[in-house]
Amino acid sequence: RFLDCLHRHLSSPGTAILKREELPGGSVEPGLQEKPNNKTFSEVQKERREQAQRSILISCPKEVPEKKLLKHLCRHGEITNHFFFESFGIHAVIEFSRKESIASLQDATLIPRGETEFPIPFKSRFFHLNLKNPSNQTSDGTLVQCSNQSSPLNADLIQRLCNAESVEGQINTLMRTLQITEENIRLRYLTCSLIEDIAAAYFPSCTVKPFGSSVNSFGKLGCDLDMFLDLDDIGKNSAAKTAGPFLMEYQVKNVPSERWATQKILAVIGECLDNFGPGCVSVQKILHARCPLVRFSHQGSGFQCDLTANNRIAMKSSELLYIYGTLDSRVRALVFSVRCWARQHGLTSSIPGAWLTNFSLTIMVIFFLQKRCPSVLPSLDYLKNLADARDKCVIEGNDCTVVSNLNRIKPSENTETLDILLCQFFEYFGNFSFNKNSINIRKGKEQNKPDSSPIHIQNPFEPALNVSRNVNESQLERFVHLARESAWILQEDKGQSSKSSHHPWGLAALLQPFVLNKSKAKKPGRGPTSEAVRKLLESIKADSTKHSAATREK
Ligand code: CTP
Ligand code: MG
Repeated sequence: RFLDCLHRHLSSPGTAILKREELPGGSVEPGLQEKPNNKTFSEVQKERREQAQRSILISCPKEVPEKKLLKHLCRHGEITNHFFFESFGIHAVIEFSRKESIASLQDATLIPRGETEFPIPFKSRFFHLNLKNPSNQTSDGTLVQCSNQSSPLNADLIQRLCNAESVEGQINTLMRTLQITEENIRLRYLTCSLIEDIAAAYFPSCTVKPFGSSVNSFGKLGCDLDMFLDLDDIGKNSAAKTAGPFLMEYQVKNVPSERWATQKILAVIGECLDNFGPGCVSVQKILHARCPLVRFSHQGSGFQCDLTANNRIAMKSSELLYIYGTLDSRVRALVFSVRCWARQHGLTSSIPGAWLTNFSLTIMVIFFLQKRCPSVLPSLDYLKNLADARDKCVIEGNDCTVVSNLNRIKPSENTETLDILLCQFFEYFGNFSFNKNSINIRKGKEQNKPDSSPIHIQNPFEPALNVSRNVNESQLERFVHLARESAWILQEDKGQSSKSSHHPWGLAALLQPFVLNKSKAKKPGRGPTSEAVRKLLESIKADSTKHSAATREK
């Protein structure tokens, strides 16, 4: 049976069970027709979680004999999928068809005997493979093919952008290169599942779920892995437990607040990851943040992880972004371009500070697409009104209801190209009245700003919060300045008859550092401008006034 399984598997190594169109995030390959999406966000999550529970991670020697390894593992059960990748050495992800195979493998696995160090005997699903006789085992000397887990923006990619036919072509190339892959998604769910095993030592029915860019359809290779420790499922089925004359409750310890409980739980899990977690290094407990978290690096997968608890609203926001990202293929394309542009110009950073975040930028793109005429995306209130009784969701007093069946949402009538939308995004925010208006995707309209923060973006599910509260005046000014400059560059390109593959144009030009004095000279409304440039600027302005007037009338 195992030879049969091996043969089937090797004939198509790394075969994905799900097709690309079925990725969480509905990542439809550009150019492919979007099919109706029948899976809800929670169905996708459930499927991926179950797949991860049947998977293991193995750290392998450099010249691992792939066939022999698979043959060896097949003794424990059928393998449905496998792939190799590099992160501090070669690693393999092996997915069995049944969970029981892992228990069988664990039974046949040794705890290492260190000569100078003493191992902590924690038996996980993260294994280390040793070759008994290295010289015999690597007979053909071929190295395994590794799936790519990072894809930096480099000169080669810029060149490929320059060779594209249009800005739209450039955007699609950028997205295809940078988006998280099927394998990377599997690895993210597997890493959460490995951490869940550790947390389950204390809370046996807890779950650890990925959220943020790993699942919201806007994930880029190399983005952090946000994890959410969910203890809420433990309290489920309480109705069935209240039958009879008595009410049986657990004897528990009590603390003064939910935040306190979260801090205590995370402190212990953090300690546990630090002491016993295979591959968990640089564990930092950041418990006094607004949202307490444990930050660590997972060496096996190479992910920088942020583990939070009691963070259900953030999970719901990820679902909301997933819905918006799946509704229209232009949304992901635009969000990828804007996120990448912002990172290239230092508008976002991996270090916390007064910068804009990817979350804020994504909401800005959604808002801009709601404001087009006709709109590309509906308001959050519209998505709420389409919801049925099963979608009802209230978290900490906030109504977070949103329709889960995407087939109920009417497709947009807007047919604008990505060339136009990208340029108009920069034009729109280059001239937005940040001093007066708040960005509100619930209404799909700007509202009066409730406070004096430089930029106000209402949190979709916690209306009292400003998502960009951290952003200071000078960061906002940089954003506006760069947005104007970018609108100008895209407009200038539009006038050219042929695109050059030698000089960055379109999106490739936007991803280059801007020369300061050039930008000063070209900043709208400042410095000498030629007649042609002035006309171009006027036409952009007229266009945008027309659009905003039309939207106001809606
Ligand atoms: N979040 C939030 N409010 C904020 C910041 C974040 O509710 N002010 C939630 C959002 O659901 C967001 C998630 O926390 O998606 C993770 O935040 P973060 O890692 O900053 O954003 P990502 O979307 O994951 O983007 P990145 O690729 O930068 O990690
Ligand atoms: Mg993140």
